[in-house]
Amino acid sequence: MPNQLLKGKKGIIFGALDDKSIAWKIAERCVEEGAQITLTNAPVALRMGELQKLGEKLNAPVIGCDATSEEDIAALIDQSVEHLGGPLDFVLHSIGMSINVRKKKAYTGSKYDWMQKTFDISAISFHKIMQSLYQKEAMNEWGSILALSYIAAQRNFPDYGEMAESKALLESFARSFGFHYGNAKNVRVNTISQSPTITTAGSGVKGFDQFFSYADKMSPLGNASAAACADYAVFMFSDLSRMITMQNLFHDGGFSAMGMNPAVLDM
Ligand SMILES: NC(=O)c1ccc[n+]([C@@H]2O[C@H](COP(=O)([O-])OP(=O)(O)OC[C@H]3O[C@@H](n4cnc5c(N)ncnc54)[C@H](O)[C@@H]3O)[C@@H](O)[C@H]2O)c1
Repeated sequence: MPNQLLKGKKGIIFGALDDKSIAWKIAERCVEEGAQITLTNAPVALRMGELQKLGEKLNAPVIGCDATSEEDIAALIDQSVEHLGGPLDFVLHSIGMSINVRKKKAYTGSKYDWMQKTFDISAISFHKIMQSLYQKEAMNEWGSILALSYIAAQRNFPDYGEMAESKALLESFARSFGFHYGNAKNVRVNTISQSPTITTAGSGVKGFDQFFSYADKMSPLGNASAAACADYAVFMFSDLSRMITMQNLFHDGGFSAMGMNPAVLDM
């Protein structure tokens, strides 16, 4: 049910890979709410061709950008501002990848060059994007920047590996950059800590299917879907959330507040 909550707003959406991606659903909802966007992903992901289809549907240009490359980020921001006809109101960082997890390395046998690459892709990219936006003065006053996180930043989920530290770093960047951006331009920076969601990145975690069911049973509202996350992101990009900044916001059906749910014992 569109309400034109983002009418006249312009933004960049990072990280839509296919129609399961959380960023895909967020892009669709933002446009439904009246926003104009550009879509971006790593050049290797663009070769799949799926994002082009979304771009055509949403009338949004697709611009390649490896989120670890400062040059790519700078060019993406310049092209987006030019295409959209002025500074931005929102940016979504929906990027995550762990090399050690993907290559099935035990946490206790992690390779450090892979770990550093994981941090670069999954967390430092967030700082790089915000720094480039900040230096280029590419955000409008009261703009909103969001990244997607996971509760493994606070609690132990053994199979999540080094992504736990990536998410802790990501959330810390939101607090630190949120201070500077808030002070300078009233720009808001937050992370949404989302339920397990069946996507390419999510399904890469060992035992994901069982864990998805466990979290669904543990949460009084069940797992939050990607579509529900898109609704929340629209709210966070809208003027309705203008005094929220430097927060990690749990969007998880209540999972983060649970100790034990008897329903889980019956599983
Ligand atoms: N799926 C879940 O269970 C879940 C739960 C909580 C948080 N998240 C987070 O949500 C975000 C989106 O993940 P998703 O679940 O939609 O999966 P996804 O696989 O659809 O999205 C991950 C995206 O990261 C992109 N990416 C990887 N390396 C990149 C690079 N160098 N430059 C630019 N983009 C790059 C991929 O191409 C992909 O589009 C991630 O940050 C993820 O950690 C996911």
